[in-house]
Amino acid sequence: MNRFSKSTVYQIYVKSFKDSNGDGIGDIKGITSSLGYLSKLGVDYLWLTPFFCSPLNDNGYDISDYYNVDPVFGTMSDVEELISEAEKLNIGIMFDMVFNHTSTSHEWFKRALAGEKEYMDYYIFRSPVNNSEPTNWVSKFGGSAWEYVPTLNKYYLHLFDVSQADLNWDNPKVREEMKKILRFWKGKGVKGFRFDVVNLISKPEKLENDFEGDGRRFYTDGPRVHEYIKELVNDSGIGDCITVGEMSSTSIDNCIKYSNPDEHELSMTFSFHHLKVDYKDGNKWELMKPDIQKLKSIFAQWQEKMQEGNGWNALFWCNHDQPRAVSRFGDDKKYRDRSAKMLATAIHMLRGTPYIFQGEEIGMTNAYFTDIAMYRDVESLNYYKILMENGKSKEEALKILSERSRDNGRTVMLWNDRKNAGFTEGTPWIDVNKNYKDINVENSLEDNNSICHYYKKLIALRKKYRIISDGRVKIKIDVPENVFAYERSIDSEKMIVFTNFSDKTEKLQTPIDLNGYELIISNTDASYNILTELEPYEALVYYKNK
Ligand code: GLC
Ligand code: CA
Repeated sequence: MNRFSKSTVYQIYVKSFKDSNGDGIGDIKGITSSLGYLSKLGVDYLWLTPFFCSPLNDNGYDISDYYNVDPVFGTMSDVEELISEAEKLNIGIMFDMVFNHTSTSHEWFKRALAGEKEYMDYYIFRSPVNNSEPTNWVSKFGGSAWEYVPTLNKYYLHLFDVSQADLNWDNPKVREEMKKILRFWKGKGVKGFRFDVVNLISKPEKLENDFEGDGRRFYTDGPRVHEYIKELVNDSGIGDCITVGEMSSTSIDNCIKYSNPDEHELSMTFSFHHLKVDYKDGNKWELMKPDIQKLKSIFAQWQEKMQEGNGWNALFWCNHDQPRAVSRFGDDKKYRDRSAKMLATAIHMLRGTPYIFQGEEIGMTNAYFTDIAMYRDVESLNYYKILMENGKSKEEALKILSERSRDNGRTVMLWNDRKNAGFTEGTPWIDVNKNYKDINVENSLEDNNSICHYYKKLIALRKKYRIISDGRVKIKIDVPENVFAYERSIDSEKMIVFTNFSDKTEKLQTPIDLNGYELIISNTDASYNILTELEPYEALVYYKNK
């Protein structure tokens, strides 16, 4: 049992959600003005991506002051107002805590650069080895993970952009600083926290070259990570909050530890293995069609093993780092409506807590940018160069970005069919998706059959049926390759979920007798007593209580 099994979380990418003052950038007041919509959708928590003071090299994941709001996004009183207005609607606010690194513009890092020993020890500085980088580790955004500082004759570690310096968690002062930040925001009424790449915080004492990979095996789920997370959560008094850790390249065993309530670490974990099934040879920058067989086997393992170990998954397809699911795993043209609903069903009926990323609930698609000048994301811009250095043509590099860039998930929320899709009165910081005349919130609310109403129903079903929130899960294996199906059960209740991931009719090997079952949600008009085949992208959820 998990305390958040009936909850649904909605993720807001602040910069792209709603602009209130016409500067083209989403802000806190914009969110407050949209609470009515979110409350009708029925979500319980809003996770806001970072809006703290930042040079915004990585759109706020490079924090220079954890205690203040970046003026671009609003003021402290805007944030206080949002928290209290949301609370009136029974919506809890979750903040995004980027604790693996700070911006190099943070006061601590500036003092470190000035040679103050105390602050140098906040970060990971190392002397050159043979006049070169201390290790051969590669940054997640491309290039070396080390940056040389001539005045100190030392390198500092940055697993992400050069402007994001990794903190030294082995230093107890760093750990105290992080707890202080949590206490401060909890005191303001924040109800939950998402911890950015939190399984990377503990680096080994001795840093060594990686001759097999990019270095991640040394610092992923690192030596003292569980101890540090326990200390962070329990000493700061946020144990009653909803907490979720973003776990990069993690393992099931570690996620069980992170999220089993007996361990007193986090409420749940994000893992990403299911979102790498279209990476050719594990490389995000090599295109491949999604391998549905692999996707199913990853879900099977993560669902059943996490259940065995009493761990808890955060369930999701989309976030600000991922392309849009309907473009990636569905069909965003002919079957956009149906495949978006199918994908939602596949996730929302599983064991775990579902997350919806802004725009997913109206079936927003990839950006389809055609020129490098349209991209904003630091990772995309870095990799555009790297891909061409590695021999790709400009066209090939653009094609790859059009499918893999994080900007696909970062285009602005489509509110209506008017100027800039109702996002801003000014010039938006990133191009508005061209399909906004069709795809927007206003249209979705008017149509009772819309994707948005379907999400609303899924959220409500989780609250109504104990079997969805707390039942056991078992993945069905005797179904065709493109069909993902599973059973849920609790006491005398039983539920079966079928989802077709293909644009073709899929025939079942053995017909399934559904007599005695009730259809509780579906994305087609069909209903069956004996199920022999599934229509393209069909989703069906059957329930019985004998
Ligand atoms: C996480 C965030 C991503 C960010 C990175 C570095 O993966 O989701 O947006 O770039 O951490 O903070
Ligand atoms: Ca603004």
